[in-house]
Parts: sequence; C-alpha cells; structure tokens
Amino acid sequence: MTIIQTARYGMAQEALAIVGGNVLTQTGLIRADVMVEEGIVTAIGLDLDLPVAAKVINAAGCVVGPGFVDLHTHLREPGKEQAETIATGARAAALGGYTAVVAMPNTDPVLDSAFVVRAVLDLGAVSTCEVAVAGAITVGRQGEALSPIAELAKLGVQLFTDDGSGVQHGGVARRALDYCRGLGVTYAEHCEDNAIAAGGVVHEGEWSAKLGLPGQPASAEEAMVARDLLLARELGARLHLLHLSTQGSVDLVRQAKAAGIKVTAEAAPHHFTLTDATLQSYDAVFKVNPPLRPDHHVQAIIQGFLDGTIDAVATDHAPHTKETKDLPFDEAPPGMLGLETAFSLTYERLVLGAKMSIEQLFQVMSTNPARIAGLDRSGARPYGHTPHGELVAVGNVANLVVVDLDATWTVDGSSFASLAANTPYEGRVMHGAIRHTVLRGEPVVLEGVATR
Ligand code: DOR
Repeated sequence: MTIIQTARYGMAQEALAIVGGNVLTQTGLIRADVMVEEGIVTAIGLDLDLPVAAKVINAAGCVVGPGFVDLHTHLREPGKEQAETIATGARAAALGGYTAVVAMPNTDPVLDSAFVVRAVLDLGAVSTCEVAVAGAITVGRQGEALSPIAELAKLGVQLFTDDGSGVQHGGVARRALDYCRGLGVTYAEHCEDNAIAAGGVVHEGEWSAKLGLPGQPASAEEAMVARDLLLARELGARLHLLHLSTQGSVDLVRQAKAAGIKVTAEAAPHHFTLTDATLQSYDAVFKVNPPLRPDHHVQAIIQGFLDGTIDAVATDHAPHTKETKDLPFDEAPPGMLGLETAFSLTYERLVLGAKMSIEQLFQVMSTNPARIAGLDRSGARPYGHTPHGELVAVGNVANLVVVDLDATWTVDGSSFASLAANTPYEGRVMHGAIRHTVLRGEPVVLEGVATR
C-alpha cells in the first residue's frame, strides 16, 4: 500500500471504498457505499463505479458515521510517558473510533507555554488521530497568574482549563473567563471546590461511611458549577463544564441553558455506568475524580444526555501505571482508562438502555464535541486540523468511523493499545464494537486492528 502524505493535511492519496454499510447522512441513515479519494468523500450511493485501484473495506451490517471526538484525554506526554505517550494514546483513540482528541494540560511540564504546546501538537500531527490541546488557564495550574492565553490561542488552542483541579479563586476564574471571552476561546472548568471537598477521595455518603474512606460531598462540584455559571452569565462568556457527575450539576446546567447562558457540558462513561457501590472491593481502579456516585446521580446524568442538557460524552481517559494504582486507596492517583471502551458503554447505556437514537449517539460523541473543541468546519483549526463531526457528505474530509452494533467483545486491559491497563471494566462483555476508523481518508483501524 502506498500512502503519499501532502504537506499540509496529510491526506491519504489511495482511493478507498467503504461498502455495504448504513451511512449517516443529512437525510438520515441510508444504505450506501462511500467513495473516498485523496482524503475526501467523493461519492455516496449504490453501484458506484469504483476505481480499479481502490482499497475496499467491508461495512456490511455496520453504521458509517463521523469519527468520534474526545474533549478530555490525558495523554501524559510530556512527563509520565511510562503511563501513556501521545503515540500510544492516539492509537487507543483510533481503536476507540476517535479521529480527534483534546489533550489535557496536566502534564509535566504543564501545557502552559507555546513551546510545550507546540511540541505536543507536532507529535500529534504524526499520530493516528488528530490531537488538539487544552491549554492551562493558570501558570503551572497553580490557580494564580494567568497563562499566556492569547499566545496559545494563536497556536489554535480553543479550550483552557486547569483540569485535574478547579480554579479555586473566584477572582482568578472571573478574570480568565473575561480574557477567554475577549479572545473568542472557551474556559473549561474542572468543578471541585477544594475547601468543600476537604480531601475526600470518594463520594461522601453510605459507602464512604461503611468503608471508612474520607468522602467529598456532591456540593464540592455543584458549588463551583454554580459560581462559574453566575460568572459566565455576568460576563457573557462561553463556559464548558468538564466531567459532570451529580444530579445538582445537571439541574443547574439545565436551568442555565434555559436562561440563555452560553454553557456546554460533558460527562464521562464511568459516571453513567458505575456507582460508588463498586468501591466495596477497595480497588483503586474505581478511584476517579470526580468520584463515582450513588445511582440517582447516575440516572440524572443519563437524563441530562437524553434532554440535551449534557452535550458530549468525554472519556477523561486517565492512564496510570500499575505501581501507582496498586498503592493504598487514599494514596493511589484518581483516574481510569476510557478511550477504548467509551463507544460500547455509550451504546449499551444510552442507546440500548435509555432509547437514545444512533443519530443522537453520533451527536454526543462526534458533532457536539467537535463544535465545542473548535474542530468542526466553522472552527478556527489554525494548526491544520481537518473538520470533524460532520455527517457523511460529498466534499467532506473523510474522518469516519464504522461501528458494528451487533458485535460483542470482552474487555482485556492488557490487550489495550494504551500503555496502562487501569480499566474498571476488566472482563466485562461489551456490546457494539469499532470495526474501522478512517483518518483523512486513511484506514488507521481495519477490522478492529490498528494499521500503524
Ligand atoms: O480522575 C481523574 N484523573 N480526574 C482528573 O480530573 C484528573 C485525571 C488524571 O489526570 O489522572
């Protein structure tokens, strides 16, 4: 196979035909073949004239739609390459059906300077999915001096967050929101008030009491959601709320949207599939921040997706080495893998379990996150990222995923492309699988296997 890369977009030059699938187009799901030439969708229909040299990939019984976009990926490079690198994280993303991810800034050094951000973007440019960057809001994520937001925005950074922790000082948050508004970029918050959380490592409630682990109440998240919504309303700023996990947060965002506040929100699959009862095992694989919650919060997150309060599924993919996850529960770092299980979990819980349509699944996993990240057609994309999240149409860049809704598979963390194996779903049978992923016309995953 010969793939020639163009200098600017790295479009695949080899013609590709995706045959036999149900294709997600402007007019809904239609049974069609998709022709891709030089990285662009050139025809959709039945009985297409395929160029003799075209590579044919089988999509029989599958859905062909826009590649997924993850708003929340911890790639760990630079600083913790033993847990993940940009290359391994991007491969895990491609295997999970993603054609673009947003890398979180809590690396070492922190993504708070043009030098480090450019290094991550450069490594991302040669990996198996497109890598955008969320820049830190404050220098070193220390919550004090603002990072060079304007300089990073010039590099194409659209989201700014101190993720891993919330901005504790309301005055700093207000100034940063105002600055982001002026630059047309988005302030994204990890909502956790440290004073209220008081060092809690699990949700405060029945299980923290039974297990004797320090808990943090739901209000630690909700207080910061409320603060930021008030600030965003006052300033007319755009706000994105990361990994929401409580019923109160969903209610606040629902009211804020009804009141016209420019807010978007994401939630992670573990917050709509797992409860804090899993902590009975004392296994730190279930330790995550924000913590797993009781079932009524889980149900509220699901409802938030169904009524559009929550815009996007975001993985919060957080690789950690076995050595660190094997530490005693309160010393182990929070976080769990997400990229390679997100689609199946979303399909099972929201589509099979809560009657979300497949079209809506693509909205929350592709179209909405692409728009929030500025990776859609109208986004700034100055670093040469191509448009993501578009329904399949002639003329679009072929960033596509082919999903098999009938397939089942069993989670085996040791076989993941991710360097780490800290999945809370080990051994679980999943419904729905990624069959192929196509990046700029190049099949980077074929029959569930990464091609590079
Ligand atoms: O569980 C988490 N892990 N939550 C975060 O906010 C950070 C993340 C990490 O970087 O490991």
